[in-house]
Parts: sequence; structure tokens; C-alpha cells
Amino acid sequence: MPNAAYDLTLRPSIFYFPYPLLGSFMTTLADYLNQHASSPALNDVITTVTNVGKTISQLLRKGALADILGEAGNQNVQGEDQKKLDILANDLLLDALAKNTHCAGVASEELDDATPANDDGSLLVLFDPLDGSSNIDINMAVGTIFSVLPYERQGQTSENSDYLQAGNKQLAAGYLLYGTSTVLALTIADKVVMFSLDPETEDYVLIEDNVQIDADTSEYAINSSNYRYWRAPMQQYIDELIAGETGVRGRDFNTRWVAAMVGDVHRILCRGGLFTYPFDTKYAHKAGKLRLMYEANPMSLLIERAGGGATDAVNRILDIEPTDIHQRVPVVLGSKNEVNYVRDLHVNYSEQ
Ligand code: AHG
Ligand code: MN
Ligand code: MN
Repeated sequence: MPNAAYDLTLRPSIFYFPYPLLGSFMTTLADYLNQHASSPALNDVITTVTNVGKTISQLLRKGALADILGEAGNQNVQGEDQKKLDILANDLLLDALAKNTHCAGVASEELDDATPANDDGSLLVLFDPLDGSSNIDINMAVGTIFSVLPYERQGQTSENSDYLQAGNKQLAAGYLLYGTSTVLALTIADKVVMFSLDPETEDYVLIEDNVQIDADTSEYAINSSNYRYWRAPMQQYIDELIAGETGVRGRDFNTRWVAAMVGDVHRILCRGGLFTYPFDTKYAHKAGKLRLMYEANPMSLLIERAGGGATDAVNRILDIEPTDIHQRVPVVLGSKNEVNYVRDLHVNYSEQ
């Protein structure tokens, strides 16, 4: 006899009391945006992005059956091999946002130049359509990261230079994590909130109304295979963590690495931690692997609003004045005391 509590074919019981863990009151994303979005325009573009997220989520659930896996056979502007899903997610977002009257233009990790949309729009939308591409074909977590900036030249056609605004100008930022469930993390005001996508009703339902990160942590995420390419203070930092209770830190640390920034940042919003993709000399002319406009800025806004820190090892990421829409930046983010510890190591090293 199956346990009725877990039998999803018993639909009437689900509809009678759909969110037992959340009590009888539930807030959908639509409710939340109506109450908290600073403008109808912001409400509208976030609704567009998150609706596309539902489609991407459905495609990922189908996996190989939707013919979405594997290589696309070309490279993006960053010289990276594109997967089919990189292009599909990019095109879905681009098409939907181009039709949104509030969107003046779109910039994507996968496109050489920003794409103008509606000249009278008041917002610019930037995204990494599919973060964690190397996870797609192995059925692991991937995500979509997005950022919204104000558009200052309404009535004129947007250009790449319109996007060159510091991250502290972002009006909203968030990500969709397509994991065992699909989760949306969002910041549109001073708080970070999380929603879970209900596959039955297709609603995003509020599950966290004020995400906060502990200042201390004993968990860190880094691709250690790049050790020999790092700068000395980063090598020293990781050496100290590995030494654990036998070293200067006096306690053991644990590594977790999802290989998709969206997954690592989600873990940090859930239980703290430090994530870094530091400066390395592996590839000439790249200051780091992650992209300022599509990855570092939106994630830094989420992390800071949740009480954490986000630097390029020394300087606050959100204060960096961009010079190129595709520029890369070293990233150190997460629990505040740990981010500050890394900064102090770098500052002290350069002063020696
Ligand atoms: P993308 O798939 O958008 O190119 O980004 C992947 C990024 C980031 O999500 C992750 O932290 C990092 O690349 C992992 O890279 P490596 O496995 O090459 O270190
Ligand atoms: Mn990415
Ligand atoms: Mn990507």
C-alpha cells in the first residue's frame, strides 16, 4: 500500500492544501512584484525573464528527449564552445525581452554586441542565459543569471556604451537555479527573497522573505586545479584552509564546488560559505574567468543585500566602472568575515 502522503496522483489532496510547509498563506512572485517592484516596468521585465525561466526549466526536465543536449558547434564572443542550450536559452530570453515595451535593450554573455529592443523602454536587461554549461550533459545543476540597469537615453536606440554602469546602479538582480527543484533568488529592493517554482501550478511561490548570510563560515568553493596560476596571497589563503586546525586558522574547512556559479552562490545564500574564481594567469588577457556584467555584478548585489561581501580580492565589485560589456573580473564573495580575510591577505601582501 503506497503512502498516500507521497502519492502525487492524489491531486485533490494537493489542491486542497497545496503548500503544507508554508501554512495557509502563500505569496506568489506576481503578488510580491505587485507589492514591492519600484515601477510597473521593473515588474514587467522580471515577469518576462522568469516566465522564460519556466520554459527553460521544462526543457531541462525533458533533457535528452527534447534534443537540447550537446554542442552547438560554434564559439561565442569569449571564445568558448557553445552548447545547444546556451543558444536556446539566449534566444528565448532575447525574443521575449525584445517584445517587452519596457526593455530598451539586451546584453548577453553569448552575443558579441548588445541588442537594441524598444527605444522608449526605461530598462536594460543583461544575462548569462545558461550558467554552468559544462553541467548540462551530466544532468547537474545549471542556471540563468540576470541583471537590470536603468536606461538613460529613452527615445534613442541603445548601444553597448549604455550598459557600462557600475553594479551599484542595478535596479534588480537575480538567478534561476534549475536544480532538483527550480528556485528563483531575487533582489529588487533592500532584501533578497527566494521563490520555488511549483511544477503543478507553474507559480513561483515565496519560500524565503529575507535571506541572510552568516558572517563566518568553514566552507569554501574554488577550482583548485588552477592553483599554480594564482597569485601568492590566494595560494597562501588556500594553503591555510587546507592546513585547517593544524595551521593559523585553527579549525578545519570543507570544500564544495558545483562548477556552476549559480549553484555555489545558492549554497552560500542558504548556509554561508566563500566562493572564489580568483585572478589567474592560465589564459593571457583574462583577469579572471567570470564576467562582470552577467555574473559578478548580479551575484554581488544578491550577496551584499544578504549581508555578505563581494570583492575582486581587494575592491568592492559593485563599484567597478566597466569599460567593456564582456570584461572579466576576479571574484571573491560570500560570508563577510571570510571575504575580508582574503582582502587583508592581498592588501598586506602588496604592502610588503
Ligand atoms: P558559463 O557556463 O556561463 O560559461 O559559466 C561557467 C563558470 C561558472 O559558472 C563556474 O563557476 C565556472 O565557470 C567553472 O569553470 P571551470 O570548471 O572551468 O573552473
Ligand atoms: Mn556563467
Ligand atoms: Mn553561460
